[in-house]
Amino acid sequence: MDPLPPRLRRDVVSFVRRSTRMNESQQKAWERLGGRFVIDVERGEMSTAVADGARIDWDEAFGRTAPLIVEIGSGGGDSLVPMAAGRPEANIVAFEVFEPAVASTLGRIGREGIDNVRVVVADGAQALAKLFDDGSVSELWTFFADPWHKARHHKRRLVSGGFADVVAAKLAPGGVWRLATDWEDYALWMRDELDDHPLLTNVHDGWAPRLAERPVTKYEAKGLAAGRTIHDLTYRRVDAAQD
Ligand SMILES: C[S@@+](CC[C@H](N)C(=O)[O-])C[C@H]1O[C@@H](n2cnc3c(N)ncnc32)[C@H](O)[C@@H]1O
Repeated sequence: MDPLPPRLRRDVVSFVRRSTRMNESQQKAWERLGGRFVIDVERGEMSTAVADGARIDWDEAFGRTAPLIVEIGSGGGDSLVPMAAGRPEANIVAFEVFEPAVASTLGRIGREGIDNVRVVVADGAQALAKLFDDGSVSELWTFFADPWHKARHHKRRLVSGGFADVVAAKLAPGGVWRLATDWEDYALWMRDELDDHPLLTNVHDGWAPRLAERPVTKYEAKGLAAGRTIHDLTYRRVDAAQD
């Protein structure tokens, strides 16, 4: 397939880059662990863009071959690190554009003592399209992606436009996409977009039960404290026989 559907070629991204200033412990974590866990990628025009033709040998990056899990928008690693600790058999690649959050993730990785996570500072939507072979990803995690409430900003939602096509192409047959949000309108939008996708099937015929291994992050706690309902969704890439 064309590696980048039109939505991902335009300058429309699902994040706002904030200050890159780190506190002292984040700086220390970056200096100590960045070289080992942060993977550099060839850049496109924007600092978070991935160059056309960029490649990463994931087996080499992890020093082993293992099922690949991808998280987009890993924030400070509040879900990523505990979930990676519970999945020692998987190689987990996280994309996050906010460097201080990546540094916090590195601190958590160090404290947890895990080695099965690598982090890339780049737009994960582009990166998924460009840096992974079709059918090579066993799971994708997008938890509490920014909701972009205003109608004129809906195009910035991660689950938007051609992104589901990219996910369907990159997931291995039988691979799963796990999503969670505390915003009802975004949850309904995700379900509408994905229920209709010909290569994805809703595993639960509606909302998924809360994923037990997903810890309550500060974003989930904030949503709950404000009285919002958390919605989980799980989609499976239909297998080749159904294609
Ligand atoms: C609301 S936070 C949620 C963080 C984390 N998933 C959690 O539940 O704690 C969303 C994060 O996604 C990041 N983000 C949004 N779009 C992204 C993209 N396309 N690529 C990489 N990171 C992205 C933002 O920088 C932000 O840190």
